Order: sequence, then C-alpha cells, then structure tokens
Amino acid sequence: MKIKKAVIPAAGFGTRFLPASKAQPKEMLPIVDTPTIQYVIEEVEKAGIDNILMVIGKGKRAIEEHFDRNFELEEELKEKNRLDELRLIQKISAMADIFFVYQKELNGLGDAVHYARGHINNEPFVVLLGDTIIDTNDGTSITSEMIRVYEQFQAPVILLEEVDPQKVSRYGIVGGHTLDENIFEIDSLIEKPSVQDAPSNLAVAGRYILTPDIFECLEQTPRGKNDEIQLTDAMQILLKRRRFYGLKLKGIRHDIGNKLDFIKTNILYAMKREDMGKEVRNFIRKIASKLPPE
Ligand code: UTP
Repeated sequence: MKIKKAVIPAAGFGTRFLPASKAQPKEMLPIVDTPTIQYVIEEVEKAGIDNILMVIGKGKRAIEEHFDRNFELEEELKEKNRLDELRLIQKISAMADIFFVYQKELNGLGDAVHYARGHINNEPFVVLLGDTIIDTNDGTSITSEMIRVYEQFQAPVILLEEVDPQKVSRYGIVGGHTLDENIFEIDSLIEKPSVQDAPSNLAVAGRYILTPDIFECLEQTPRGKNDEIQLTDAMQILLKRRRFYGLKLKGIRHDIGNKLDFIKTNILYAMKREDMGKEVRNFIRKIASKLPPE
C-alpha cells in the first residue's frame, strides 16, 4: 500500500525550552526566519504526501494560524507592493491539506500518535516529530528515502542516527544487523539503555513509517517512562509481530526542543543563507578570534 498520510505530533509541553515555550509552541521557534514545523511540512511535501494530521494541544493555536490564510496581511502586502513577502506567506497557506486534532491530556508521544487512528484508518503512514528537522545535506527529503525502504520491504521503517556510544542512555536504541550500507534489520528496541546493555549505538531519530496495527499495540501499551504512553514501547509490541527496518541517517538531526541544538541549528542555517550567510560567517570568524582558550 502507498503512503499517503503523515502525522505530526506537536502537542508536547516543551519543558526543556521553558520559559520560551510557556505560551508559544516550541514547534514555532524559528530557524532563521522559518518556524521549525514549516521545515517538517516541507519535508513531507517533498515526499509527495499532501494529507497531514497535526496533533496539537493547549497553547498551540499559533501553529493552526501559521498554516491558515491571513487576508488582512495579504492585502497590506499587496498595497505596499511587497510581492516577495506576499508570495512567501501565500506559499505557506497553500501547503498540503493540514488537519488538526487536539490531544486532550498530554500522555506522551504514543498517546499523541493514537489520536491519529480515526484519520489514518487502515493505511501505513509516516510520523514526523514536529520539533525535529532532518537535514540530509543535499536538500532531499528523508521521508522520501524512508518511503523507498518501506516499498522495498512492506514493513515499518525507523530513521536511525549513530550516536556517541557513551551517550546511548539518552536515546531509544535498536539492536539487529546491517543489511547494506544504509539499511538495518531491527530485532530489538530498548529505551535509554545503559552503555553496557546497549545493543548498538543506533538511536531512533524522530521519523517513523508505521503500519496501522501500531494502534492496537498502543492500546495494549501500559504507561511507561515519565508515566507516559511511549511510542517505543508500542513498537516493541509490534516488533514481535512484524519485521522492522531502520534507515541510517547520513545527514544531521536537529532537535529544536533542545536549547543548545536550537542555537547550533540557527547558526548553521544562517551561515548557509544567500542573503546573510557571508555576514554571519564573517561575524563568527571575528568573535571566534576573540574567544579565550577553553
Ligand atoms: P518530546 O519528547 O520533545 O517531549 O516530544 P515534549 O513534552 O514536547 O518536550 P520536553 O521533553 O518536555 O521538553 C517529541 C514530539 O512529540 C510531541 C512534541 O510536541 C514533540 O513534537 N508530543 C510529545 C506530543 O504531541 N504529545 C505528547 O504528549 C508528548
């Protein structure tokens, strides 16, 4: 079956980014001038998917408004002949068909994904964390690559990132074996293992292609870490019934919900921009030369 729908959980509290995330969604934090969630939507669109369900919650209306039309602003820009800006905002509201569902209580990522059940019906679908940008280095969409792997194996696919072996205890880690340079067959999944228990240093990286039987697994999943319904726990149940594959990421994952990652991503993206890259690079050279030794 073809992948036609995407689910973007974006309801979380974002406690790692307080106070900025108190009254505004962390998914709206800009990387240079574009909200994080817009990069995520662009990745989905590049993969040819135009049906997107966003899971949002209290305090997340700015996300809905961002993807809605703003006629007053459009008129204002037209009157002032600011056509570049007009095109920019019209492009946003013309993006894929975006649907919204409210996660009433924030019971974790697994619970957020379960809210998609009615919308997804009986189809495979992709899940993209709304606070995570995947940069493939060459502008391609990692979701497209994952769909190719799905089409080859007709089985769930998880994006995997190699992490420092000393830091495995911060991530969901997979075990299994390499099939080729990029593809990994997964036979176990462990949430935040100790360095000794980790079966590899390949971490789950914020993108998943799942089959609809994940919903049944989510219903059987008891509350786990932080007293939340964890998607990793539900995938562990599914792993007993299905083969699972991993695609190893060649680019960089940016977790914008993490302050340090947010700053680094802004610097990297600003350096690459045509309109400001040169000035930003010069500025960094200038301040770097004045830095005291560590
Ligand atoms: P995180 O693991 O970053 O959790 O969620 P969080 O609660 O948002 O942030 P911290 O850890 O408190 O700082 C990963 C993605 O899953 C969504 C988040 O919005 C984010 O995009 N999420 C998480 C939900 O939609 N619902 C939840 O109950 C939890």
